[in-house]
Amino acid sequence: MTNDIVRPDAAGGFDRKLTSYGDDGLAKFLRRAFLSSAGLDAEDLSKPVIGIVNTGSDYTTCHRDMPALIDAVKRGVLQAGGLPFQFTAMSLPEILINPTSMMFRNLMAMEVEEQVTAQPMDAVVLLGGCDKTVPAELMAVASADIPSISLVVGPMMTGTWRGERLGACTDCRRMWTDYRGGVLDDDEIAEVNTELCPTAGTCMVMGTASTMGCVLEALGMTLPRAGTAPAVSSERLRLGVATGRRAVELVTEDLRPSSILTADAFANAMVVLAAISGSTNAIIHLTAIARRLGITLTIDDFHEAAQKIPVLADCKPAGTRYLPDMHSAGGMPALLKELEPYLARDVRTIGGQTLGELLDTWSGPQPYQDVIRTIDDPVKPAGALVALHGSLFPDGAIIKAAAASPELMNHRGPAVVFDSLDDLAARVDDPAVGITEDHVLVLRNIGPAASGMPEAGAIPIPRYLAQRGVRDIVRISDGRMSGTAYGTVVLHGTPEASRGGPLALVREGDIIELNVGEGRLDLCVEPDELTRRAQEHAPGVENAPSRGWRKLYADHVTGADLGADMDFL
Ligand code: FES
Repeated sequence: MTNDIVRPDAAGGFDRKLTSYGDDGLAKFLRRAFLSSAGLDAEDLSKPVIGIVNTGSDYTTCHRDMPALIDAVKRGVLQAGGLPFQFTAMSLPEILINPTSMMFRNLMAMEVEEQVTAQPMDAVVLLGGCDKTVPAELMAVASADIPSISLVVGPMMTGTWRGERLGACTDCRRMWTDYRGGVLDDDEIAEVNTELCPTAGTCMVMGTASTMGCVLEALGMTLPRAGTAPAVSSERLRLGVATGRRAVELVTEDLRPSSILTADAFANAMVVLAAISGSTNAIIHLTAIARRLGITLTIDDFHEAAQKIPVLADCKPAGTRYLPDMHSAGGMPALLKELEPYLARDVRTIGGQTLGELLDTWSGPQPYQDVIRTIDDPVKPAGALVALHGSLFPDGAIIKAAAASPELMNHRGPAVVFDSLDDLAARVDDPAVGITEDHVLVLRNIGPAASGMPEAGAIPIPRYLAQRGVRDIVRISDGRMSGTAYGTVVLHGTPEASRGGPLALVREGDIIELNVGEGRLDLCVEPDELTRRAQEHAPGVENAPSRGWRKLYADHVTGADLGADMDFL
């Protein structure tokens, strides 16, 4: 094998990123010897190398069709004259990871960034889907800035139980609440359990995975319709082939994330997030991705977008349907067409066209469907996400108003305080605690630094209240909730309790006042008294990790308002 191979870029392909031996000739010689051992010849080595990030894992059940998708992408790469090279990356199984996948999003982002930077590749296809994988990959390539194209595995199909359509995981939570309330018995909940996730694919309500799929299209980082095509559809495979082909073209065009992920692209994503009533987790993820590119997003930016854009996608938890329905109704192109007056048209998309050029070829919502609605006939009025300010969280908090109970949006009540998840588990169902629907449930020390920011903000309704039919109470925390969850739940409170936020100073019985209409959340305790309490309280984390990633994370993770990224990234 010789070194005189013709390449589109003399420093491209496997001549990129030579291993450091102090002798580049030796590095190339050794590299070719080992590539030869994999059956590659000079013809193969003349082609652009397209990395494919494989986030498949037996633990990430929603990615179980990943092998078929990789095959499809490889076929597209080969058709376009590239050489596909898949490599595994950390997979983040939302449901099979402790304490929460969020604690590892930044680790995966670092890992993918280092893999795409250290290994020779001319472009990369980012395969993902489960909640944190897509943001981690975008954070990685935002920093690495190599030609990149995203593709999600796509949403699951729905199941049925006794004639009722079911899906993960809004219905998981609803049915579990019914079980806790005595509406379903042990046998019934076991039957329901097998119908909630009936196929391969990501959760098919507008949870975080679906939200990020839609956001990818809004940002222009994936091909049209790729955000919502079901995992098991043939269209998903065709999108894989098209993505592979397009990845090769990105090399000659040298189209990098920094040309796609502009401030206008993020503005478009915030418009879409409002229109789909997307997961609140996307606020943190978009903030983190944008910051990697030097673009600052605040909760007030998300609030502002949500105030002018009504909810148009009729998907659970804010609506009634599922992602496959949205896809059949035209998917993101139909939604984007309806949102056209609010979008920046001149942003580039990964397919090569501007969004405006694509919009000129698309049609809006069609009369035969009612899943993607029009601005004049929305699912819910504007205001799906509301930024909250006030004395309890000086740096802000958010509430998904579209999934909250209207009668609790303006509420004043005494606090019941849980200091940790263990404290919550031990006491929430104890009638002696005396929780009523008028109380405000406060859970602290679930912020990023304290515990990785688990999705525990949707505190369970106490069993004895659930049995009486109570389905919602005002709940407040410095943590997150699943995009599939619902209720009057205040999230992402910043600063978190362990980093000196006033949340740490709340005591049982303190009055808390929530006014969503005015964007206010206040702890009704005199400032002098709070100062006195602060003098008695030393902020910090109990049982803080002492080694490894968890220590690095706890020491360096930023607040939710900054995207919960590492402060050195
Ligand atoms: Fe993977 Fe819901 S568990 S997307």
